Parts: sequence; C-alpha cells; structure tokens
Amino acid sequence: MNISTSKEFLENYQASQNQLKDFWLKECKNYEWKTFPTQALEGSFAELPVKWFSDGVLNITENCLDRHARQTPNKVAIIYEDNDPNEDSLKITYKELLERVSRFANVLKDHNIKKGDTVCFYMSMVPELLVGVLACARIGAVHSVVFGGFSAAALANRIQDCAATVVVTCDVGERGAKAIPLKKVVDEAIEQCPLVKSVLVFSRDQNISLGKGEQNLLELLNKAVPICAPVHIGAEDPLFILYTSGSTGKPKGLLHTSGGYMVWVGETFKNIFQYKEGDIFWCTADIGWITGHSYMVYGPLLNGATQVMYEGLPNWPDSRRFWQVIDKHKVTHFYTAPTAIRALEAAGEAYVQGNDLSSLKVLGSVGEPINEEAWQWYNKNVGHGRCPIVDTWWQTETGGIMISSLAGVTASIPTYATKPFPGVFPALMSQDGNELTNTEAEGPLCITQPWPGMARTIYKDHARYEQTYFSTYKGKYFTGDGARRDRDGNYRIIGRIDDVVNVSGHRIGTAEVEDAINQHDCLVESAVIGAPHDIKGQCLVAFAIATQSAHGKTAEELLQKVNAFIAESIGPIAKLEQLYLVSGLPKTRSGKIMRRVLRKAVEQDKKTLGDTSTLVNPEIVDEIFKMVEKNAPHRA
Ligand code: PRX
Repeated sequence: MNISTSKEFLENYQASQNQLKDFWLKECKNYEWKTFPTQALEGSFAELPVKWFSDGVLNITENCLDRHARQTPNKVAIIYEDNDPNEDSLKITYKELLERVSRFANVLKDHNIKKGDTVCFYMSMVPELLVGVLACARIGAVHSVVFGGFSAAALANRIQDCAATVVVTCDVGERGAKAIPLKKVVDEAIEQCPLVKSVLVFSRDQNISLGKGEQNLLELLNKAVPICAPVHIGAEDPLFILYTSGSTGKPKGLLHTSGGYMVWVGETFKNIFQYKEGDIFWCTADIGWITGHSYMVYGPLLNGATQVMYEGLPNWPDSRRFWQVIDKHKVTHFYTAPTAIRALEAAGEAYVQGNDLSSLKVLGSVGEPINEEAWQWYNKNVGHGRCPIVDTWWQTETGGIMISSLAGVTASIPTYATKPFPGVFPALMSQDGNELTNTEAEGPLCITQPWPGMARTIYKDHARYEQTYFSTYKGKYFTGDGARRDRDGNYRIIGRIDDVVNVSGHRIGTAEVEDAINQHDCLVESAVIGAPHDIKGQCLVAFAIATQSAHGKTAEELLQKVNAFIAESIGPIAKLEQLYLVSGLPKTRSGKIMRRVLRKAVEQDKKTLGDTSTLVNPEIVDEIFKMVEKNAPHRA
C-alpha cells in the first residue's frame, strides 16, 4: 500500500472489504520472505485460533536491517539522544545496526538462547535495548520487555510467567536527574526466578560490581563476532510477549507472531505517518510499551527510516527539552502522548517558543483520548497550524494502529481518531448486544474481522484470551473501549469502559491495584476507580475500609504508606492520587461493588447515578458523595 490521496485510501479500504485475504497477501510482497505465503487468513473470530500467512517463512530482522544495510548501508537508522543534553548524540547507520544486532545475537547464542526461548529485558532507553530486542528476533527467540518502572515483584511475576532464562538490564537507568537502580531491582526479582541462568548488565561505567551469573554486556558485545545468520521462522511463530493490565489482578502476556505483525506495523507506519525518504521520525514512547515496539523498533526500521531515540524526560533539565531535540535533529515526524502534551502546555508557551520547529511535517498522538484543548495547543504551538495531527487509536492487543487519519491525506479532526485503516472493520454495539447500524452511534467498540497484526493469544492462557476478548460479543473482538461515530463515519474514542484506567497513557487494571493494596495491613477491602486528571488524563482513586491497625493515622499518612506499598508490589506508576476511608463499599446483594456509584461520586454527579435499588447498603451512597464533596478523606 502506498496511499497518497484520499481516493486511494477509499480504493484500498474497499479492496480490503471486498477481498480481505487477497488484499493482505498482496501487501506481503512489500517484504522479503524465505518462503512467500500462499495462505492469508485461516480461522475467524467465531472459530479461533486465527492465523495469518501460516505457510510463510521469514526473519523480520532481514526486513528491518539486511535489506537496508545492502541498499543504503550508510543511511542513519538511529540518532540517539542521551538523557544529558551535554552528551554528544550518537548516530548508528543501518550497516552498523546490523552488526550490533548480530553481535548481540551471538552473545545470546553463547548463553544457550535458541529459537522459541524467551529473553526478558528490563532496561532504560539505551540503544542496546533496541539492539537486544532485534537480536532475539534475529535468532528466532522471543523478547519480553518489562518497563523499567515496574517493581521487583512485578518483574519477577513476568519473568516467571514467560519462563525467561536470560535477563538483560542496565546497572542504572538515567531519567532526568534520577538514576534508577535497575540492576538492583533485577537482583531482587531473580531471587524468586529459579529459571534465570544469566543476567547481562549494560553499564556506561565499567566499574560495575557483578554477582554470580551476572556478566558485563558491553564486554561480551565487544568480543562477539559482528555477523550472525538470521534464523528463519514460521510467520505464526512467536516474536514477542508483552504484558499489559486487564480486568483481573494478573497481567496478561500478549503474544504477537512475526509475519502478520511485520506486515501490519510496516504498512501502518508508512501510510499513516506518510514517512518519506529523508524524513526524521521521532516516537517518544518507551520500548517497554507497545508503542515503542511497533513505532520505534519495528515500524520505522521496516521502512528504512531514520529516527530519533531519546533516553530522557520531556521536562528535564526543563520543559524545552523535546523542542530542542526537534530543532537539533530537524525532526519531521513527532509522535507523543497527550499526557506529555498537557504537561508541556501547563509549563507555558515560553518553553516551546524560541526553538525552530519548522522542520516538523506531521504530529501524532497516542495512548489516550486527546482533549480538544491539548489538540488545539499542539496544533498551534508545535505544528504552527501547518502539520496534520494523526490521532492514532490502537492497543497492545492490536499490534499496530487501527483507527487514524493518514497524515495530510485524509482529514484530521480534533479529538477524533477518524477512520479505520484498510482491513479494519469496527462495530459499535447496543446495550442488548447487537451491532448499531446507524452511522451516527455510540457504544462499546468491537472489531468484526481479524487483522494480521492482532495478538494471537495470552501466553499460556488461551482460555483467558477467548474469554476476555471474544465472549462479550459473539464472533467479535471487544476492545474494552467505548466510542462514538459521527455521521461521516469518523470515530471518536471515549475511553475504557472496563475496569482499566489510563494513567498518563499507561494502562493499569484497577483489580491489580486492589489486589495489591488489600494486602496492606491497614486496609480490609478497597475499590479503585479512575478519576479525571488535568495532566494525566486519568488518575487512580481508592475507596477503602480501614482495619484497626489504621486507627490514629490520618488518611494522608495512610495514603503515603499505601503508595509506598504499591510502589513495591507494582511500581510507582500505579500510585493512588487519593484515598477515601469509608465505612462500607456500595455492594449489590450478590456482593459486587457498584463502581458506578464511586465514579459518579468522584464526578459529583448524582443526576445520572442511575438505579441503586439493588444495593444492600444504599445509605453509603450519601456518605461517599459527601466525603468526596468535602474532599476530606476520612480520619480513621
Ligand atoms: O483506551 C484506549 C487507549 O489506550 C488503550 C490501549 O492501551 P495500551 O494497550 O497500553 O496501548 C497504548 C498505545 C497504543 C486503548 O484501549 N488509547 C490508545 N490510543 C488512543 C486511546 N484512546 C483514545 N485515543 C487514542 N488515540
């Protein structure tokens, strides 16, 4: 697909509608395969599992690296910008990147990693993370990256679940003025992970102290041979596992396979961002999340792009940093999250002014709904009214972008993700579970047909995969989001309608937080909900019943204690903004907490509270509303 006009967009969309299978087989021709697939789609949402291109054989890194290293060896693949603005930036060409990946792959082989084995990465945004992930793919191994903000307990859970035998980490991660002790967290985590045989530690400082089973990654890389033949794998063989929160306490290891994912991220990157030769792409996401996987590691490299990789924060040393990086590297495509936009907006216009942003051609948004004000600010102050904004809706499960405008080709509409990509067939559902057929509609968002980039299963728990995504609406994939469709067929994502909260674009299951805090000896039971937040989009608020041991402590003190506890069991990203100590939680006769009451209390909206007659303790509604109104978390 090489869509450059709105007419071509419509033609492609129609072609995907008429002949879904042929459509995608044709797109496979844009990539190198050892054996070109003859099969497109097998299975359906009514008859899982779904497979794409199952007789195809390939190695995704040949597509990301070898073909560019052959054709444009000296083209820069990665411009690495350090956390510290005074450090020189590093440029890595496609030829060098292939060599680095090959060295790393040989190191992994020396540690007995072979096709199908899992390697876990717990690192900050250093080039070795991107290189390591590709090194796994080079030898048919499976990567599982855990975001560097998760705690030792959360990391240990994930390492155990994906059965990794090798863990790669950094001694410290640099984020702004902070040094995050990543290796220390790994050391603590692997005490609970008997399968782990080796820990490879990346360090800028050669004086690291290494324990048993730990090795200095840079030393190993320097000694390794810079050539490694790619291992060809089946299109349906696993490429990576990435954990994400769901509506139960246990994170889900979503498994993505190699062939369909490659075609999906390759085609969405090219057409949605309209990346052209000579452009400089910058996605600010961390590789610990799906956005970093699809639009930093794979999408840009599949397209032979030049991109910026940045280790640091948007607002360190001050809120000029992003704009300075754009100016310095003449970035043309800038892809970030609404939470960053809102934080930089709050810092004030003075920070964005004074930097030359005239290189910019396309702006992108991802991870959460972008509110009108942030959209307008982004458009005016960053894009200077001349850069199309692509508001890209997608999920860890979808592998790549599903609904978005194509930059400058189809219309950008503030707060709307707009139109589905070719091959994506959305449906909005009614309360009685039927598809809403009017164009203008609002309801739970489903996808009706499989697409190549979709996650194939939850690792080691296929029953949960079927239950979570395919049981609510028979024969359809349920996204967990609610959406609105306007009369022109544009989609606006409203947000999660399950028990998942999007805090600063990070997805957090409320059940995971509840499971954690209920273990705190000051709390008996809790209910966690998402509440609106000016910068973060949403934040976490808990209503909890305190135990005797909480007596004498103020809610403030308890909040601090509980947050320290959350930081240990999940990570600081799941901290509570507010803790209300209540005498009871609103429960139905079957013992289910009526979270709607809590959400409405936080919004102070009694008018749309709805029916509470099924509550066993209706008197609690008033108590909770009053407590929130006073914003006076109760004293235990
Ligand atoms: O609620 C939607 C929101 O982020 C969720 C997916 O989170 P995650 O799997 O962590 O992936 C984030 C990066 C793709 C979705 O269910 N979301 C993502 N993009 C948008 C969005 N909400 C509104 N608009 C978006 N553009």
